[in-house]
Amino acid sequence: MADGTRRPLVAGNWKMNGLRRSVVEFAKIVAGSANLAGKADLMVCPPATLLTALAEAAKSSAVAIGGQDCHPESAGAFTGDIAAEMLADAGAVAVIVGHSERRTNHRETDADVRAKALAAWRASLLAIVCIGEAQVEREQGRTLDVLGRQLDGSVPDGATPANLVVAYEPVWAIGTGLTPSVRDVAQVHEFIRQRLAQRLGAAAGGIRILYGGSVKGSNARELMAAPNVDGALVGGASLKADEFLAIAGVYG
Ligand code: PGA
Repeated sequence: MADGTRRPLVAGNWKMNGLRRSVVEFAKIVAGSANLAGKADLMVCPPATLLTALAEAAKSSAVAIGGQDCHPESAGAFTGDIAAEMLADAGAVAVIVGHSERRTNHRETDADVRAKALAAWRASLLAIVCIGEAQVEREQGRTLDVLGRQLDGSVPDGATPANLVVAYEPVWAIGTGLTPSVRDVAQVHEFIRQRLAQRLGAAAGGIRILYGGSVKGSNARELMAAPNVDGALVGGASLKADEFLAIAGVYG
């Protein structure tokens, strides 16, 4: 559970899903967000092609828009990449960096993720830095080692509650329907909080730590109730407005 000092964030990661007609589904999220009455922040991170349309549809609502990745540089000869400044220009206020699908499919290292987080800050975007252990790492009892290393390597110096959100996403829980036990989630989130505190001092107390990986309406209440869980990063279940709003409704 997010304590009183941290406003929960429920962020949807649409991944490579969504066409222009998805604005209709998004409009339902915007309409439903009114029921949250400021108790939690809601965000949708669509594919880049939909950023402008969704930012337009979200105008004067409480739903924020984020990107899914950015390039470390602000401009240049990087075919197919998107600069943080471009995301901001399209209406994004945040960007996910270091998602496990980027780390795996694009071989992004912690140093890459750190550079992207710095790029996000340069463009005044909130960086949502993802970390998570693979199944084999968990089985070998290396979960906290792996997460500590990812956290240290991926989060730049200068992190504050206003510019950083950490998302803990066990790789084996993403898109599989599997989730860690609430106890395991609580243990990991406490570890992340302590590790951040070693580096950032008191500021760590205000940084939101999201859980991600197979969050849905039916398990959100239990997962979000764990100590130091300040919201969710939601993949598949964020594509349907009803399901996404059911998750956010935990805070309603
Ligand atoms: P999932 O994805 O909710 O579909 O498991 C989560 C994520 O990858 O952020």
